[in-house]
Amino acid sequence: MPHKVGPILIDAEAIARRVRALGAELADTYAGREPVLVAVMKGCVLFLADLVRAWPGPMDLEFVTAASYQGTEPGEIRLAVPDGFACRVAGRPVVVVDDIFDTGATLAAVCRAVREMGAAEVRTVVLLRKRHLGVVPPECEPDWVGFEIEDRFVVGYGLDLGGRYRNLPHVSALGEG
Ligand code: IMP
Ligand code: MG
Repeated sequence: MPHKVGPILIDAEAIARRVRALGAELADTYAGREPVLVAVMKGCVLFLADLVRAWPGPMDLEFVTAASYQGTEPGEIRLAVPDGFACRVAGRPVVVVDDIFDTGATLAAVCRAVREMGAAEVRTVVLLRKRHLGVVPPECEPDWVGFEIEDRFVVGYGLDLGGRYRNLPHVSALGEG
């Protein structure tokens, strides 16, 4: 079934306001410390760019890639952590940044990987969280969430379908068409 982008679910202004508020909250939480932000490519790029500009204060940025979706269906997680980050992770606070929390499997895999690198503390921030009946172990709950959304496939503001629609400035659901 072909897909087309449906109406706007969260517009650019609402995203900007919420991301600025999240940035201020994170800046507050990490005041006086220098966390490592571990960003999950590629979906988080727009969110990350706006979040860090709303978060004054020292930090390091590192990247991992994770891919799980085959089209609109979740599949097996493929996680690629580069061969050691440029910065030291051991003993430091880490904030994992991702676009969307669905089953939580991706964030759990990334958190596990950074804990194995010796991170002192690992917290997570996501732009979107899907509300559904799936049970998430409490230790996998995201620490900061931009917006809770219905359990449907969304695109835009970094989120893609087969590589498309990441550059939309807003978040839209997919329609069928
Ligand atoms: P999880 O591992 O089930 O939590 O899935 C999270 C990952 O799947 C995210 O990092 C996204 O890359 C991708 N994903 C989940 N839901 C959507 C969606 O609605 N649109 C686009 N990507 C999604
Ligand atoms: Mg992702």
